[in-house]
Amino acid sequence: MSKNYASYLKHPVFKVASQIVTEKNLQAYVIGGFVRDMLLGRPSKDIDIVVIGSGLDLAKECAERLRVKKVSLFQNFGTAHFKYKDLDVEFVGARKESYRQDSRKPLVEDGTLADDQNRRDFTINALALSLHADNFGELIDPFHGEEDLEKGILRTPLDPDTTYSDDPLRMLRAIRFAAQLDFKIEPKSLQSILKNANRLEIISMERIVEECNKIILSNEPSRGFKLLYSTKLLQQFFPEMVALHGVEIINGKSHKDNFYHTLEVLDNVAGKSDNLWLRWAAILHDIAKPPTKKFDPEIGWTFHGHEDLGARMTPRIFKRLKLPLDQKMKYVQKLVRLHLRPIALVKGFVTDSAIRRLLSEAGDDIEDLMVLCNADITSKNEFKVKKYRQNFDMVLSKLKAVEEKDRIRNFQPPVSGELIMQVYNIAPCAEVGILKSRIKEAILEGEIPNESAAAIEFMLRIGGELGLTIANDPR
Ligand code: CTP
Repeated sequence: MSKNYASYLKHPVFKVASQIVTEKNLQAYVIGGFVRDMLLGRPSKDIDIVVIGSGLDLAKECAERLRVKKVSLFQNFGTAHFKYKDLDVEFVGARKESYRQDSRKPLVEDGTLADDQNRRDFTINALALSLHADNFGELIDPFHGEEDLEKGILRTPLDPDTTYSDDPLRMLRAIRFAAQLDFKIEPKSLQSILKNANRLEIISMERIVEECNKIILSNEPSRGFKLLYSTKLLQQFFPEMVALHGVEIINGKSHKDNFYHTLEVLDNVAGKSDNLWLRWAAILHDIAKPPTKKFDPEIGWTFHGHEDLGARMTPRIFKRLKLPLDQKMKYVQKLVRLHLRPIALVKGFVTDSAIRRLLSEAGDDIEDLMVLCNADITSKNEFKVKKYRQNFDMVLSKLKAVEEKDRIRNFQPPVSGELIMQVYNIAPCAEVGILKSRIKEAILEGEIPNESAAAIEFMLRIGGELGLTIANDPR
């Protein structure tokens, strides 16, 4: 007996589509991600309807009856799309596809439902529910996708070599679904990904990164990255991260494996925040450890300056990965550059001036920096972790106290360049810059409070030392 899920298809879109399909005696099915997510109990806003024949006519008729005004028709592809309330509804004619070796773009022919299901990526994405009144809601599941859903297995409908070489993006999709759904990729499929990994070269970086970002946004992103590494897909697009992998030993001294450390930090951050860019900062925080690594016989392994080099590498990596080069990149870059600063405070003696400097540099990103930094405390030594975490809490409360007292965040110097020029009646020159930075230093060092009157007094004193004459006394 085939299963029936009519009770899941209560939405007006399905009712109306079913009426038309039945009146015109068509065959049409809800298929793909919507059915998968429905059976998993995950809400989905994307509905795909596959029609044997043309999807365009059914889409137009359906839109008309639902009083949807705007329908986008893609004659060449035989697809149509409209929005209904918060749903995206897509209609497509069933297809039989064959792919060329050098491109993701398939040669498309009309096909049956079975052809269409064959050409899909995974058995769990090939589930179809009939829309015809004769068998409304009936599940058509030739590859036992429902069973795979229950067992948590990702399997391709055809031989995995065929499915993956037809569209290599699917190798990444396999890992993305494994990460998102906590599913296992069946061994045959994993071997095929390993074998075909270099076929990723025909996929655009935008699409690769779209999947990668979905992996990063999953609950435990390390799962996805371990798979990306073991299947050699990561090697195809992110060599800097691959370079973090491995441990070197000299004179019996080893350093930690920075790949797995990075993944631990990433998981820790993921446990605290859904911010994709904060998660990217976790991925990149130690990215320059391989190029800065040195062995010193006295102290062992060092990675001096990896935070600065990492910050310099960030724009290059973002550019290659086609990630945005705007404020988001700047934010990640800043966190990479500053990631060691709070921990240095945790490990050492905390002065107010060190706290003020950190606050003035981190600005509004201080909380995120602290999340990253806390996540960066990973050690096999429980005692060390506990001690650092306690110190970390102390730094946090000190940050709060100093911020309340001195309002250093988004530091705006209480004496502007204009005022300096007015007081001494001078044009822009080196002295203006010197005075401004001396005032800022004095505030950060705690020599003077972050207040206008004190800053003016200080300016007049330093101005005198620099040999400047007061033209307009501001007091
Ligand atoms: N599909 C495929 N191969 C691809 C992309 C998509 O076979 N490279 C098929 C799958 O059947 C998939 C459907 O097209 O279920 C819709 O694809 P898409 O909307 O990209 O993904 P979803 O599976 O819906 O998942 P998500 O919404 O999470 O991206």
